[in-house]
Amino acid sequence: MNHPRRFTRRDVIKTAAGAGAAYAALAGLPSWFVEEVMAQDAPKEPKSANDLPAVALIGCGGRGRGDAADAQKFGRIVAVCDVDAGHAEGAAVALGQSQRDADAKAGRKSTGDQIRTYNDFRKLIDTEKDVSVILTGTPDHWHTLVNLYALRRGKDVYSEKPLTLTIDEGKRLVQTVKETGRVLQTGTQQRSDPQFRLVCELVQNGRIGKLQRVTTIVPAGLRAGPFASKPVPEKLDWDMWLGQAPKVDFVPERCHTTFRFWYDYSGGTITDWGAHHNDIALWGMGMDRTGPTSVEGRRLVEPIPGGYTAASEYEVKYTWANGVEHTCRTTRYDSIFGSLDKNPPPGESHNGIVFEGSDGWIYVRRGFVEASKPQILKDPLPSNAKRLYASNDHMGNFFECVRTRKAPVAAAEIGHRSVSVCHLGAISTRLGRKLKWDPQKEQFVGDDEANKMVAREQRKPWTYDTVVQA
Ligand SMILES: NC(=O)c1ccc[n+]([C@@H]2O[C@H](COP(=O)([O-])OP(=O)(O)OC[C@H]3O[C@@H](n4cnc5c(N)ncnc54)[C@H](O)[C@@H]3O)[C@@H](O)[C@H]2O)c1
Repeated sequence: MNHPRRFTRRDVIKTAAGAGAAYAALAGLPSWFVEEVMAQDAPKEPKSANDLPAVALIGCGGRGRGDAADAQKFGRIVAVCDVDAGHAEGAAVALGQSQRDADAKAGRKSTGDQIRTYNDFRKLIDTEKDVSVILTGTPDHWHTLVNLYALRRGKDVYSEKPLTLTIDEGKRLVQTVKETGRVLQTGTQQRSDPQFRLVCELVQNGRIGKLQRVTTIVPAGLRAGPFASKPVPEKLDWDMWLGQAPKVDFVPERCHTTFRFWYDYSGGTITDWGAHHNDIALWGMGMDRTGPTSVEGRRLVEPIPGGYTAASEYEVKYTWANGVEHTCRTTRYDSIFGSLDKNPPPGESHNGIVFEGSDGWIYVRRGFVEASKPQILKDPLPSNAKRLYASNDHMGNFFECVRTRKAPVAAAEIGHRSVSVCHLGAISTRLGRKLKWDPQKEQFVGDDEANKMVAREQRKPWTYDTVVQA
């Protein structure tokens, strides 16, 4: 039997950075909180290869491979699938090596099995009967159809964020998770980063007084184009890559990595980074199982004709029933694809979340937390304080829940509600007007055009019916 080990300072620093990365996130965190985290149990890492559940990865790009390498502490990747055969082959080789490394580190005997490759997720799921866990690392427009297919066939799912392409997909996904009793973790790993939890606990316990304003600052998206179509690369099934999205000629910029700047496949940075930071905004407000009552988005620059279609710079204002003003806006000075502007004015250089209350403010981003007064962070929470779901390892929490059948820290409804806020912002920005939203019915009030955008037309055969019932 494995005894739970305690977190070490090194674990905390690593998990605070999110999957894989390591930076000194704890430098600014109060010692009372660090001690608390270190007293919490780390997820179990099986000591025998036989105890590792069989796992498959669908979508073997940068993130999918990272998730799979993370999952190898808790499970065994036996199969991978990608519509780009080159990506599937590369992932099979790399993950075979990292599995041997993970086994060696855990003192386990390696099975030496080859990782099998597929190009159709349905074939993988229907063939690999031993697989109980699916990791979904496809672009956003494929998440839900893959996830519904997997859930309906009894698999537990770790799905990358943004959980969905539309609000309608999210409603169906939440319902399916309920009906099937499967575990679904949304890949919003900031939920398992202790510093974000600390900030949300402080805000929820009134440490900055009455919460008045929340600002989520996300990187500006790319604004470029026009782009030329090119021959489809030999190893890529472009029609399958497009899936439910409209049929178009192959344009490299539409495909790997930069798909997130096209509205057909994503929502732009409001769903890409917004799925992380708005998630924390909702957690801090205690509103992560509901939605705003209105949204007003506006583009700050127009897209270039023939180029990326998602808004690159924008500002979205939300109103909530609790009266908190919530704004999600872009910064030009901080982008994973390179800053648009190299000379930020003071205080304007980073993405993150700012909570402002009647008695002070807290600003948090990955690896950094700051408050208007040091005491806001330094004073321990009282023993009767409201505490939030404590997870310090996102992938570990998922596998723990697969074992115990508990709800994970970023369960389907939370992932759905967080990304719904982002979808609402994208819809309002596209329509260029203020919209009223009913968070119970999950419908716009008195706006048929907006309500049509809650769902999207799905290109056959990639409709809910053919994928889910197949
Ligand atoms: N949690 C995080 O911090 C984080 C970080 C980066 C990316 N992501 C998310 O991960 C997802 C993937 O992003 P990425 O940057 O790795 O993209 P990517 O383009 O590098 O990889 C996506 C892969 O999915 C494959 N694919 C497309 N359709 C498929 C299908 N039907 N079946 C199987 N494979 C298919 C593509 O060929 C590609 O190899 C996105 O939703 C993104 O938002 C999350």
